[in-house]
Amino acid sequence: MPATRLLIAMTLACVLCGCGQMANQEISTHTPVGSDPMEKWSRSCSLCHINGIGGAPRVGDSEDWAPRLAQGDEVLLTHTVEGFNNMPPLGYCMDCERSDFVTLIKFMSSGLRP
Ligand code: HEC
Repeated sequence: MPATRLLIAMTLACVLCGCGQMANQEISTHTPVGSDPMEKWSRSCSLCHINGIGGAPRVGDSEDWAPRLAQGDEVLLTHTVEGFNNMPPLGYCMDCERSDFVTLIKFMSSGLRP
């Protein structure tokens, strides 16, 4: 159930970056389901990026993301769209736009909810 996964992810992201205030604050900003990038995240990227399945960099884990970010945004975007080793093309998000991927990558690498 996506809502549960989202909650787990938020909790995890919070524990990982040690900012207890963040979740409560961010959750109040509501966007309609469908256009909400977090809804897309919770039914696609979260499947692997919460627990690091297959070696996926974990959401909000700055150590996991540091070497990825060092490659630059363009490389990350290309690897997301075209796939990269165990990372499937489009990350299972068939209705994601490029701008969604940018938002989702930013979210995962920072742990900050869009
Ligand atoms: C089936 C599991 C799976 C799903 C679903 C998934 N990923 Fe990944 N992702 C991975 C794995 C595994 C890696 C690590 C690949 C490697 O470095 O060999 C990865 C790596 C990445 C990277 C880093 C690429 C790099 O160049 O270092 C980005 C960015 C990324 N994923 C974004 C996403 C986004 C955005 C989504 C959702 C739209 C998503 N992923 C969904 C498994 C997944």
